[in-house]
Amino acid sequence: MSKETDTRKMQLLLQYAAKIAETRELDNLLAEIADMGRLLIGADRSTVWLLDEEKGILWTKVAHGVSRIEVPMDSGIVGESVKTKETIVSNDPYSLPFFNRDVDRSTGYTTKSLLTIPMFDEEGNVFGVFQCTNKITEDYKFTEEDVTLLHFITSYAEKTILAAQLAKEIEATQIEIIFLMSEIGESRSKETGNHVKRVAAVSERLAQLAGLSESDVSLLLHASPMHDIGKVAIPDSVLLKPGKLTDEEYATMKNHTAIGYHLLSSSKRPIIKAASIVTHEHHEKWNGSGYPRGIAGEDIHIFGRITAIADVFDALACARIYKPAWEKERVRKLFEEESGRHFDPELCKIFLEHFEEFYEIVDQYKDV
Ligand code: C2E
Ligand code: SIN
Ligand code: SIN
Ligand code: SIN
Ligand code: FE
Ligand code: FE
Repeated sequence: MSKETDTRKMQLLLQYAAKIAETRELDNLLAEIADMGRLLIGADRSTVWLLDEEKGILWTKVAHGVSRIEVPMDSGIVGESVKTKETIVSNDPYSLPFFNRDVDRSTGYTTKSLLTIPMFDEEGNVFGVFQCTNKITEDYKFTEEDVTLLHFITSYAEKTILAAQLAKEIEATQIEIIFLMSEIGESRSKETGNHVKRVAAVSERLAQLAGLSESDVSLLLHASPMHDIGKVAIPDSVLLKPGKLTDEEYATMKNHTAIGYHLLSSSKRPIIKAASIVTHEHHEKWNGSGYPRGIAGEDIHIFGRITAIADVFDALACARIYKPAWEKERVRKLFEEESGRHFDPELCKIFLEHFEEFYEIVDQYKDV
């Protein structure tokens, strides 16, 4: 390999490593790793196959120029590589008895050479295969150097894919635990799980309509059910009181914001961090007359301003232990009056423009 090629490959490698480090979606990761392999090796195509043992297949979303391919896990060169756990260099694949001609038949592509490397998890089990197709040289042959280089890329791919899968699992677990915690918190105030579902769904939709990024919308969706988690520290005599609260009881009740914040604020996890903001700020008001800090306007985090609308909407549109639900028109009127006072006027405008849609969301999760 010439010095120039070395330098170019090094550049490519660094470029992709940087891009891959920023990528979180598994599909995009696979596409970038496949691309990196193809360019570094100088192959016409590259494919990351993943093994689905339950279904007995190998499948891919990221084959170049073709949509999802699915083959039986024991078929073809890929299947052979999974079975034997060996790297297979085939510079004349049609001569191999186990070459799967169906793939070419269905893609209309002619495979002239294949470099196939199995990918292993930490326990040494094969979970997929990295494959390059048709070396772009006159003789189409993959060399020993290609094998070495693709081994290096494959071990990088293994670690990246496993890390992404683990991150996804951890996030899913977090989301589940957070939702369960919220439900447990609400069950004490005799609310069903529907209350947290409604606040979550209303917050999510309002965040979308307000133009928040997809990742912020998702953060808020998962964080907003936690807004009242601080009520775990409020005594039953206050929390479950059927009628109006005394001033003193109301002062006790107001502590649920600061309590929730202190419970959650030490976490570095994005969803918990978002939840700590929501618990802290969902009773702040646009004009500064809210609690616990009395902050105003955009000093209140957008997550807090959105959840404030979702929370009050739910408190009015649905019955509470201390009062029945309000008529729809009365609810609308309150939001019109409180725009710019309790609520962010821009959010309030969007909310009122889609008022019927929000009622439909609430009706979906109505308590019976
Ligand atoms: P919540 O029931 O989820 O109510 C959330 C917010 O909705 C309230 O925050 C308030 O801003 C609004 N809201 C609820 N009901 C009404 C209403 O009848 N009229 C108007 N204008 N707004 C209403 P707030 O006031 O800070 O209360 C926080 C939490 O304190 C409430 O959550 C509820 O759990 C409790 N709470 C408030 N007032 C009473 C009460 O009179 N009796 C009892 N038992 N609990 C109360
Ligand atoms: C691929 O090479 O990426 C897909 C299989 C083929 O078309 O031969
Ligand atoms: C095979 O692995 O036998 C065929 C896969 C391909 O053509 O890409
Ligand atoms: C809530 O509104 O968030 C809790 C339910 C209740 O106060 O009854
Ligand atoms: Fe609250
Ligand atoms: Fe609430």
